[in-house]
Amino acid sequence: MSVAVNHDVIIIGAGAAGLLCAATAAQRGRRVLVIDHAKQAGKKILISGGGRCNFTNLYTSPENYLSENPHFCKSALSRYTQWDFIDLVNRHGIAYHEKTLGQLFCDHSAKDIVSMLLTECRRAGAQVQLRTEITAVDYDANSYTVVTNQGVLRAQQLVVACGGLSMPKLGATPLGYQLAEQFGHRIVSVRAGLVPFTLHDTDKQRFTELSGLAVDVIASNQRNQFKEAMLFTHRGLSGPAMLQISSYWYPGETIQINLLPQESIFTSLLELRQQRPRMSLRSVLQEWLPKRLALTLCEQYQWPDKNLADCNNALFQTIADTLENWTIKPNGTEGYRTAEVTLGGVDTREVNSKTMASTLQPGLYFIGEVLDVTGWLGGYNFQWAWSSGWACGESL
Ligand code: FDA
Repeated sequence: MSVAVNHDVIIIGAGAAGLLCAATAAQRGRRVLVIDHAKQAGKKILISGGGRCNFTNLYTSPENYLSENPHFCKSALSRYTQWDFIDLVNRHGIAYHEKTLGQLFCDHSAKDIVSMLLTECRRAGAQVQLRTEITAVDYDANSYTVVTNQGVLRAQQLVVACGGLSMPKLGATPLGYQLAEQFGHRIVSVRAGLVPFTLHDTDKQRFTELSGLAVDVIASNQRNQFKEAMLFTHRGLSGPAMLQISSYWYPGETIQINLLPQESIFTSLLELRQQRPRMSLRSVLQEWLPKRLALTLCEQYQWPDKNLADCNNALFQTIADTLENWTIKPNGTEGYRTAEVTLGGVDTREVNSKTMASTLQPGLYFIGEVLDVTGWLGGYNFQWAWSSGWACGESL
């Protein structure tokens, strides 16, 4: 097998973090090779945001990230900000728009972002080599040897940018965690994040009729709350509100859902009883909530089909409490098959927050999702990939 020694840096993973890091390091004169087992670079970018890539968020701040070490992300996020990435997107003439809550999406296609990153790599002279299976990585005499199906590669610096475990169909593997462990790093235990919930059989049967229905809610638990849409699916509950809270959820816990955050339910029922006493309770609930959901809840809680005039305050209070604090105990989540991210990862207490360098092993770096830094839904995960990739690229 041939041995190629003419690289300063090998980056494993031609995804969001790896490509930005490669371009940044190559612009500084480093000889960079990016390797990936996939046939195509940036596969997750291509399918992200429904094919339009929610590439950053205008309001990105460290509070939008989960980590056992919450201060770690601050340095990189403040040195390469959402404005820096937007500037790059502007320089490439890519049209974009804000969809909601500061989320920026391409007007045309996520392909624009991948082409931009590959153009940056090409202009700077960073090589991207796909279809490269890695069989072993060793460190010896101040350099790394990467054994692949395309030959043996050597470089003084190795950047691990191979992402997390979500969506194995798109090429996700545990290689990043395995390499971290090989070089003595601790892994904060990993689990699926930004993932739909599955329900226990009784709830699943009860709500299966509601599949496809979306409601604006506040989903909360003791750790956080999110005011966004919830979607009933044939397996359980999804939509942005549920994906967001899933990252703060542990098996066996419940989730509280305010199904009518825009109403003060008890007061509104009292007022309506005065104004429209002959109106039926079910019609009110069907006006406030999607009809099918209102009827399902009336059946589940056996709320009577009476006129408002015949309902007492205690019933109003029960209804208000139930709708404002609808409690669901998920059976689990759909797991890595559909999760957008992996929570946990390489423990950031053993990584330099300015350079992304390992503090245990010379010349080794970790960037992007493989680290124990996970963003909310809304462009925050790509921003972490860009910021950590850039910070590392600047230090190589
Ligand atoms: P990324 O996963 O991008 O890249 C890792 C690379 O390593 C891949 O190219 C992979 O092939 C390669 N690799 C893995 N194992 C390997 C091995 N053994 N050998 C060789 N190569 C290997 N975020 C966001 O901010 N906005 C959004 O709109 C979305 N949308 C979205 C949709 C879906 C369906 C998913 C699954 C995820 C998102 N995300 C997102 C999350 C976002 O895609 C993710 O956080 C970043 O891509 C992480 O960037 P990385 O570069 O760290 O990993």
